[in-house]
Amino acid sequence: MNSKPTLAFIGAGNMARAIIGGLLSNGYPAEKIWASEPNIERLSDLAKLGLNTTDDNNLAVKSSEIVILAVKPQVLKTVSLDIAETVQQHKPLLISVAAGIMSTSMNQWLGGNTSIVRCMPNTPALVQTGANGLYANDQVSPEQRLQAETILNATGITLWVEQESQLDAVTAVSGSGPAYFFLVMESMIAAGKKLGLTEETATQLTLQTALGAAKMAQSSDVSPAELRRRVTSPNGTTEQAILRFTEGGLPELFDTALKACNDRSVELAVELGKD
Ligand SMILES: NC(=O)c1ccc[n+]([C@@H]2O[C@H](COP(=O)([O-])OP(=O)(O)OC[C@H]3O[C@@H](n4cnc5c(N)ncnc54)[C@H](OP(=O)(O)O)[C@@H]3O)[C@@H](O)[C@H]2O)c1
Repeated sequence: MNSKPTLAFIGAGNMARAIIGGLLSNGYPAEKIWASEPNIERLSDLAKLGLNTTDDNNLAVKSSEIVILAVKPQVLKTVSLDIAETVQQHKPLLISVAAGIMSTSMNQWLGGNTSIVRCMPNTPALVQTGANGLYANDQVSPEQRLQAETILNATGITLWVEQESQLDAVTAVSGSGPAYFFLVMESMIAAGKKLGLTEETATQLTLQTALGAAKMAQSSDVSPAELRRRVTSPNGTTEQAILRFTEGGLPELFDTALKACNDRSVELAVELGKD
């Protein structure tokens, strides 16, 4: 297997640059990466890093073994139809990070029999702490699976799902998940201020606590539920807060919220996949 295949990013916005940043910092050769997109300024920034740049999507596809589709879902159909002939000639592995567009729609737009990996990334990819859910269609070989995983591992962790529909659940947990944690942080900072802390102090304490809790949960061999029990002494201070959270229905609220997110993801797939 070619361990450093040539890659083409179609669309060089936030998500593409997050992946490119991770690849470069992991030592991926810049000259093995193409970026294609209409924004000249973005291209020139990437050219300064040593990437091959173009505004011709077909040239980038022609030059690469793996094509990462990182455009907005709304333009994916136009982009796919435009590169279909080149894809049929060169048969690259296609990795789509576009939310909601089914592999069957993409396969049809690209002319059929294409190897497609769908990835649901999240924004912490920008700081190489992303969580990616991946799904491969039937055309994807074990070698291509490994290649997709290696590329996306540059932004954080990757986990495969067996059913494409599970990407809706991935969207509900990790794709949209950073926003839930930001909301919790926002609420804790506001509550800390009401209790007399300055905004600066409440913010620093909240962010460091979130980071510490995540690190502890990741490095521990027990579940987050057990970690919570261990820091909740009977009749102690934490217990008072946890009681208010459970009385207020926080666990049920997460069920409702993630279900709503999952359902919106299903709806979007229908809207965006229309011919
Ligand atoms: N950001 C996230 O947190 C996140 C999370 C999960 C999934 N995603 C997925 O990642 C994809 C990209 O999102 P993003 O946030 O990176 O968007 P973005 O910053 O808008 O990047 C998309 C890029 O594609 C360019 N583009 C537009 N039309 C094109 C064409 N015909 N050919 C080539 N490039 C074209 C855009 O240029 P212009 O700006 O000039 O139009 C822009 O630079 C989306 O499908 C999204 O669903 C993003």
